[in-house]
Amino acid sequence: MFKISVVGIGYVGLVAGVCFAEVGHQVTCVDIDEQRINMLKQGMSPIYEAGLDDLMQKNYAAGRLKFTTDYNKAYKEADAIFIGVGTPEQPDGSANLSYIATVARQIAETIEKDCLVVVKSTVPVGTNDKVEQFIHDFLTNDVRVEVASNPEFLAQGTAVRDTLEAARIIIGTDSKWAKEMLMKIYEPFNLPIVSVSRRSAEMIKYAANDFLALKISYMNDIANLCELVGADIQDVARGMSFDERIGSKFLNAGIGYGGSCFPKDTKALDYLARQNGYELRTVKAAITVNDDQKTILYRKAANRLITFDGLKVAVLGLTFKPETDDLREAPSLENVPLLLEQGARVYAYDPVGSDNFRLKYPESEYKINYVDKPEEALSGANVCFIFTEWEQIKAIKAETFQKLMRTPLVYDGRNIYPIQEMQDAGVEYYSIGRQAVENKDLKLSNIHNTSHRLHSA
Ligand code: UGA
Repeated sequence: MFKISVVGIGYVGLVAGVCFAEVGHQVTCVDIDEQRINMLKQGMSPIYEAGLDDLMQKNYAAGRLKFTTDYNKAYKEADAIFIGVGTPEQPDGSANLSYIATVARQIAETIEKDCLVVVKSTVPVGTNDKVEQFIHDFLTNDVRVEVASNPEFLAQGTAVRDTLEAARIIIGTDSKWAKEMLMKIYEPFNLPIVSVSRRSAEMIKYAANDFLALKISYMNDIANLCELVGADIQDVARGMSFDERIGSKFLNAGIGYGGSCFPKDTKALDYLARQNGYELRTVKAAITVNDDQKTILYRKAANRLITFDGLKVAVLGLTFKPETDDLREAPSLENVPLLLEQGARVYAYDPVGSDNFRLKYPESEYKINYVDKPEEALSGANVCFIFTEWEQIKAIKAETFQKLMRTPLVYDGRNIYPIQEMQDAGVEYYSIGRQAVENKDLKLSNIHNTSHRLHSA
């Protein structure tokens, strides 16, 4: 068993730290954020992630997991230091490596025994070489220190399972010493290990994420064409999925991919290519399709309604996907501001994301209300947008839209409902890549009369 320090206790760092402790290593989690560390010491995870709190409390109680802001001590004692700090996107699409650089310097100036530094954060190809050089430049004591790449493949919402039951562990090393040590650290996980060079490991992470982003954008592109030619994207996806070369995952067309990874990693790889004098046309196309996809339903609705001014708009789902409270690059963040600008009165429902959304759009400054139940958003609404496929939203019956809304006009960015069901319930229903169900009884004039009534109220 090894003494492991993990620095940067966000998604990547915390889950890695907890899982290393779970398989028996002695783990110290380091972060500069005191509030975060205090919260962790009290057994509370700062992120919403199924199963994480329990596992964290169990390993903390067993003495295998510690939390501290004292990096000096944590680095001095460690056999290996895993770096999981953020690499946020800069305006030009490149990754900001300043947090990695700060940590690397602190490590160099602190360590007193041989140590393996492992970069888990997603970093552009070649960064591990630079980090190693940087550490050697600032090294205070005469010790052996090498850098290895160990990219992370967990998805939010399933992070613990993705780590303990990972499809593979990628280790990128450029020496036998580093390779053997990382292999030993991962031995207790009993999972397939792919050992490659550092640069290949760095590239695997981007290539895998961007491939998935491309797969989604491809399905969204085909979905938009399906609508125009009278096909149904869900049937098309099902038909494609039986081919093992294509697979059944990540074939869901929708309102575009979001989150902290795909948008950032597609732009970073595009940037890396440009830096190297190459145009990465496929990834560029994925980015363009996704940018357009995020507002596709807003544009359709704007065309259908002429104006949102004074309308009650129900927004169901704010987070970029279910089972997370993360809003980063969520379609809601593109659409809600547009609706507010157009004078809509937004009633938003999300089981966990409202608090984070409220920080950006407080009720005191915007015509927005955060409600605890989807029914409150739907009641008397003129139009409804669905942006996240939470179970609580999927559970809404088709008739509920008909019963509660003033005009049952629904734009579904997650293809939740069977077309027939909405048709039978008398809902005017638009989704992605499927045929629209128009409702002849739902006259535009009804909606505009409502708008006038609201104005005069
Ligand atoms: C993604 C990858 O799935 C992880 O393997 C990777 O480790 C992680 O990024 C990362 O780099 O840290 P995550 O961003 O948590 O994980 O979420 P995903 O479940 O991959 O979903 C990303 C976006 O794609 C969501 O907005 C989701 O709604 C969308 N999506 C996903 C679709 O639109 N259609 C699909 O079929 C699947």
